[in-house]
Amino acid sequence: MRLNRTYFLIFIFGAILLPLFLLQCKTNSHQVSVLGKFENPADNPLTEEKIALGRLLFFDKRLSRNETVSCATCHVPSFAFTDRKKVSEGVDGRKTQRNSPSLLNSAYLKTLMFDAHLTSLEIQVIAPIQEHVEMDMDMKTLLKRLRKDEHYTKEAKAIFNRDFDAFVLTRSIAAFERSLISENSRFDQYYSGIKPNALSKNEKAGWKLFSEKLYCTKCHPAPYFTTFIAENNGLYSEYGEDKGRFRIFNDSNDIGFFKVPSLRNIELTFPYMHDGSKSTLDEVIQHYSKGGEHHKLQSKNIIPFKLTAKETSQLKAFLIALTDTSYMKDFK
Ligand code: HEC
Ligand code: HEC
Repeated sequence: MRLNRTYFLIFIFGAILLPLFLLQCKTNSHQVSVLGKFENPADNPLTEEKIALGRLLFFDKRLSRNETVSCATCHVPSFAFTDRKKVSEGVDGRKTQRNSPSLLNSAYLKTLMFDAHLTSLEIQVIAPIQEHVEMDMDMKTLLKRLRKDEHYTKEAKAIFNRDFDAFVLTRSIAAFERSLISENSRFDQYYSGIKPNALSKNEKAGWKLFSEKLYCTKCHPAPYFTTFIAENNGLYSEYGEDKGRFRIFNDSNDIGFFKVPSLRNIELTFPYMHDGSKSTLDEVIQHYSKGGEHHKLQSKNIIPFKLTAKETSQLKAFLIALTDTSYMKDFK
């Protein structure tokens, strides 16, 4: 009799309390929502099936001419979808001009690329596929190649009701990119008010420096840590071959202007700047503390400052509290 009762109690615990406990954990992990809803294009509604198809394509090396490079070669999930190289390398080890940006929260981006000139993820997909130093592939050959994949043709029919084509390819990959959300850092837990103690004293002091004593939030404001526009942060006194947005519109007022990168997951996305020229956060802080390299178009907001060693470590501690690897649960 007694034994039965013990079993009964264990059963009750397992059947009722455990699911309740798990449910609680699940809701907790979803409570933080500092970024709000993004605007999804009306002609590309998000569905689980489309995201799954986009994900397969994102990791598919057949997208490159010699089948050696996928999107994920330069946008590696565990590095917050960057590649830890100064500048990215495409087919045959060809070097690009630029450092790979994170794709996390790209759903919120109002402009794309360091030149801030593209406006939709759908259009962007075509760029790396055709780019000589990236995937070096032409769309016609690529579609012929991918149409031989029965799963792709079947899913194209099921999801889009059409043959596998550039529309299917770009819509699916863009949908997958919009599913890459990261907004559950300790800073987010603190900032949203859900967990006021999520940040240590030093990290809170670092946030105060970043947002009050210094001028960082002029261009890197919470919660996105970017204004989405291109700015000249005085990285160089003279810009060499890569003059930023200037190369798109040939407007000399654009020299040295690069889209402000988000600082989310900055701990994972080194090296820094459009050309990967800063290896560490210390080097970045040094750059700003001396007031930049004084390019003639440098933003007036960038002025010299002095921090004590303790303040520098607090500023870094805050930046590192912007790390959120919970998105990795889908990439194990
Ligand atoms: C050879 C490396 C490489 C490959 C392959 C590659 N990318 Fe990129 N990606 C980059 C670099 C470098 C940039 C920055 C380019 C620039 O700003 O001019 C970039 C920029 C982007 C951006 C803009 C992000 C932002 O913050 O503005 C998106 C989105 C993107 N890539 C998605 C993709 C997708 C999707 C694929 C596959 C179809 C892909 N990339 C393949 C290196 C690569
Ligand atoms: C006038 C706008 C502006 C201000 C103010 C500013 N930044 Fe930036 N920041 C930028 C731009 C633009 C870039 C990218 C430049 C490039 O790629 O060449 C950048 C890049 C960075 C990066 C590297 C990001 C990456 O992924 O490569 C870090 C870190 C950074 N800034 C931190 C700070 C800090 C800390 C402050 C305050 C001391 C600050 N920024 C103030 C515009 C600004």
